[in-house]
Amino acid sequence: MSQSADFETLLAARAEAVETCLKHLLDPRPREGEIARPANLLAAMRHGVLNGGKRLRPFLVVESAALFGAGGDAVLRVAAALECVHCYSLIHDDLPAMDDDDLRRGQPTVHRAFDEATAILAGDGLLTYAFDIVADAETALPAAVRVALCAGLARAAGLGGMAGGQALDLAAARERPDEAGVLRLQAMKTGALIRFACEAGATAGRAPEADRARLAEFGQAIGLAFQLADDLLDLTATPETMGKATGKDDAAGKATLAGLNGADWARRQLAGLVDQAVALLEPYGEAGATLAAAARFVAERRH
Ligand code: IPE
Ligand code: IPE
Ligand code: MG
Ligand code: MG
Ligand code: MG
Repeated sequence: MSQSADFETLLAARAEAVETCLKHLLDPRPREGEIARPANLLAAMRHGVLNGGKRLRPFLVVESAALFGAGGDAVLRVAAALECVHCYSLIHDDLPAMDDDDLRRGQPTVHRAFDEATAILAGDGLLTYAFDIVADAETALPAAVRVALCAGLARAAGLGGMAGGQALDLAAARERPDEAGVLRLQAMKTGALIRFACEAGATAGRAPEADRARLAEFGQAIGLAFQLADDLLDLTATPETMGKATGKDDAAGKATLAGLNGADWARRQLAGLVDQAVALLEPYGEAGATLAAAARFVAERRH
């Protein structure tokens, strides 16, 4: 089996564990302190989450934590919480007021399967739930670690991270940012959550500060690579393989690095980012091999 096939097998195995955790978190029984779980809203949240994503961000949380000896249910719950934030971002990204997409992960988007108001609320429900999951004592990590994870996730998802990046992305269709501007918006809209995924593993594993910073830097490099690959795939792949519309960035007049500089340039950049990311793992030797494979997957993925 090739290295990338090995990696995809491992990714699928990790995805299954996260899937089980997400199903448990999104079951119909109200949690302590909740009044009721409205069936239609819960169904929309489940539609937006339990629909076959690659679960790359959870994978990065689990593997980064493993590097520092952490694992089990607590880490899985942190990974699931991050996936809730990611899925919320996709539900809102697809809304008519944003990218106006009908297809996500090969299925109708949440506002198509339900309605717009329900899709907005499903996003709201998932975003808030993520912090509930991390803060809950059932996430068996020391309270100070849970607080650090909540704060890190909030910073990555909010004004100065993903949500801010989405705002810059919407403005990019009008304002045509230069390369530095595009890099910044990508570091925010996509990079911030991926960076957090890697950093969160180190935080959960109570890694020394230097290692936490190293993992954050690794996450930053692959986060950039991830969006560059997404833009390249938007340019070159089909909706069938992607499970979502392609050719949208150009049609929307959206400046992307792949669009600005061409596909060959994007591929060279991707190779450079992988080298940079893999070099950061050097101190961990063989233990860093899975994260190195993740970096290669991000750059070379076909879906
Ligand atoms: C898509 O993310 C959105 C971007 C940030 C580019 P993924 O490609 O990780 O989507 P899923 O979760 O696998 O569907
Ligand atoms: C979305 O970027 C990033 C998010 C924060 C969701 P895109 O708009 O390019 O993602 P896709 O192509 O719809 O998955
Ligand atoms: Mg978008
Ligand atoms: Mg989109
Ligand atoms: Mg895209």
